[in-house]
Amino acid sequence: MPALHGPALANYVATMEDITRSYLQKWEKQQELTWFAEFKQLTFDIASQLLLGTPPGTEGMHLSNLFTTLSNGLFAINPLPLPFTKFSKALAARNQILEHVTKVVRERQQNPTKDALSLLVQAQDEDGNTLSEQELIAQAVLLLFAGHDTTTTMLTWLCLELARHPEVLQRAREEQLKFADVNSLTLEQLGQMPYLDQVLWEVERLRPSVGAGFRGVVKEFEFKGFYVPAGWQLYYSIALTHRLPEIYSQPERFDPDRFSPQRQEHKQYPFSLVGFGGGPRVCIGIAFAKMEMKIIAAHLLRSYDWEILPNQSLDTMGIPNRPKDGLRVRFKRR
Ligand code: HEM
Repeated sequence: MPALHGPALANYVATMEDITRSYLQKWEKQQELTWFAEFKQLTFDIASQLLLGTPPGTEGMHLSNLFTTLSNGLFAINPLPLPFTKFSKALAARNQILEHVTKVVRERQQNPTKDALSLLVQAQDEDGNTLSEQELIAQAVLLLFAGHDTTTTMLTWLCLELARHPEVLQRAREEQLKFADVNSLTLEQLGQMPYLDQVLWEVERLRPSVGAGFRGVVKEFEFKGFYVPAGWQLYYSIALTHRLPEIYSQPERFDPDRFSPQRQEHKQYPFSLVGFGGGPRVCIGIAFAKMEMKIIAAHLLRSYDWEILPNQSLDTMGIPNRPKDGLRVRFKRR
């Protein structure tokens, strides 16, 4: 936990910004790109450098592709371990990921640095017990897995909604004017972008990266006349909650102003905005992810333009859901 909150976050801004800048330069040269694929690599680089302490450029693209293969098989309808099925490809990808992560865990055990994994390596409970190697590997895989696909889809939808709503893009850009001369953003400055916060909340609401989650019932209860016994598994829907008309007016509309101080539609009932989950098992990477998305968005808004290319499908597909063709755009400096 300390690696993802409070003072640790301030130390991440510069690295996040440096990695973002290197991608922006690459995209400028490319001129045409697919956001989903590019954000996937960018967020994977950020996660592996800051969470696992992996040096820049080491196998980032290969590993992020392995995670894609793994996710595709994780939600396969027919989990048959036959060759060439999504499921067996996912198993092979998992083995390669485990091999890589095991190597990294052993390196951090020998030589702890300042990343989240090193903190886990050194963590002890009140009796002085440390995590086993297997637990460390599982936690490291979880951090990488949970920490990049979700951010990737949210950024992709952000760019799509901004391109579709020029008036929102314009307002978000105007807010960035006060940082026009700032070379390196600080955590404090990131906290001074209320309109960008509203835009990100609206993307979280309308396009949640995680559509739902499970909860185990520890104590029986009754809800709206239904009896729910202890021991059951419950499924809570993030996507449906976010589209309830009794909470959000015209829920299908992209409208960041529903989160303005005057309207605050999400404040009428608890747990109305749950794109990062809620309660004790809320996403532990929420502050990390929000900071990362704000840095990337601030740079895009300040200095770049993008235009959605024709002849592509923007239909929603996949887990986490994304535009079918990954959102292909023409990209240039303003
Ligand atoms: C836009 C980005 C992200 C979204 C939308 C997101 C969403 C979520 C959601 C909905 C849950 C709760 C699932 C449940 O109810 O069971 C969750 C849990 C979790 N997230 Fe995230 N997440 C994001 C980024 C991250 C990042 C960057 C990290 C790591 C640095 C991370 C690590 C985790 C972990 C470890 C859990 C499990 C927490 C627990 O069960 O106690 N997430 N996330």
